[in-house]
Amino acid sequence: MNESKLAKAADTGLRLQGISHSFSDGRGRATDVLAGVSFEVGAREFVSLMGPSGCGKSTVLGMVAGFLSPEQGDVRWHGERVTAPDAARGVVFQKPHLYPWCEVYDNVMFGPRALGRERESRDLARDLIAEVGLEGFERHRPYELSGGMQHRVALARTLVNRPELLLMDEPFAALDAQTREEMQALLLEVWQRHRCTVLFVTHDIEEGLLLSDRILVMGHRPGSIRADISVDFERPRDETLVFDQRFVDLRSSVRTLFRKDSS
Ligand SMILES: Nc1ncnc2c1ncn2[C@@H]1O[C@H](COP(=O)(O)OP(=O)(O)OP(=O)(O)O)[C@@H](O)[C@H]1O
Ligand SMILES: [Mg+2]
Repeated sequence: MNESKLAKAADTGLRLQGISHSFSDGRGRATDVLAGVSFEVGAREFVSLMGPSGCGKSTVLGMVAGFLSPEQGDVRWHGERVTAPDAARGVVFQKPHLYPWCEVYDNVMFGPRALGRERESRDLARDLIAEVGLEGFERHRPYELSGGMQHRVALARTLVNRPELLLMDEPFAALDAQTREEMQALLLEVWQRHRCTVLFVTHDIEEGLLLSDRILVMGHRPGSIRADISVDFERPRDETLVFDQRFVDLRSSVRTLFRKDSS
């Protein structure tokens, strides 16, 4: 490969190439979970990964995070093979997973302290707590916060490590409709302000369409990418977009893809 081609390859934010994987059931039987999953996510793109329950979305996300390695194929971030977790690839889960004995500020500072970056992260931690709307709650413990507030802490705790890539596994699935909308708006602000790349797993077609630049629809048994759909509605988008005929059409074609897969 010549120099310019190498530079171009390294520029692609995230690249998954030919990922196949099986899990053993502990009785010697292996189930193929992923077969030939390949896709790319450009730097600062917002991409949603969707598909039926059990198709392997969390497994893919875990591989990008570096929690597990694919049996075949590879995951590359800026051209480098992903082999282990790294603070540059931050993960937000469906549950906030806060440390219950730690105050909000200490939850946010947990990562920087573990990485020996306490001093240079203090101001950022305070700024992020304010940015997610929790100024004044720095000394509260998780049990004193609502579910939505706990998710805000989880987001700040991930952002304090200055991730270039934000990996989110159905982060708002357990929230009520209003809190979920607030968190979606906050996420878009954060994404634009911090200029990070987002790979977002969701079951919710509307959520995927409202937030993303592209959606990847997975099929299952074994999991593979069935469709890669551009979502080019102008930003900022608001809730009235759901009445736009182009939105309605796109939503129904994604629904059809989902249905095809479950039949
Ligand atoms: N550690 C594991 N050991 C064995 N099987 C596993 C493991 N992790 C996932 N699986 C299996 O792999 C398949 C894909 O699981 P995964 O959690 O990635 O799906 P998903 O698309 O995220 O589903 P959901 O939408 O319900 O969260 C499932 O059949 C699951 O049982
Ligand atoms: Mg999952």
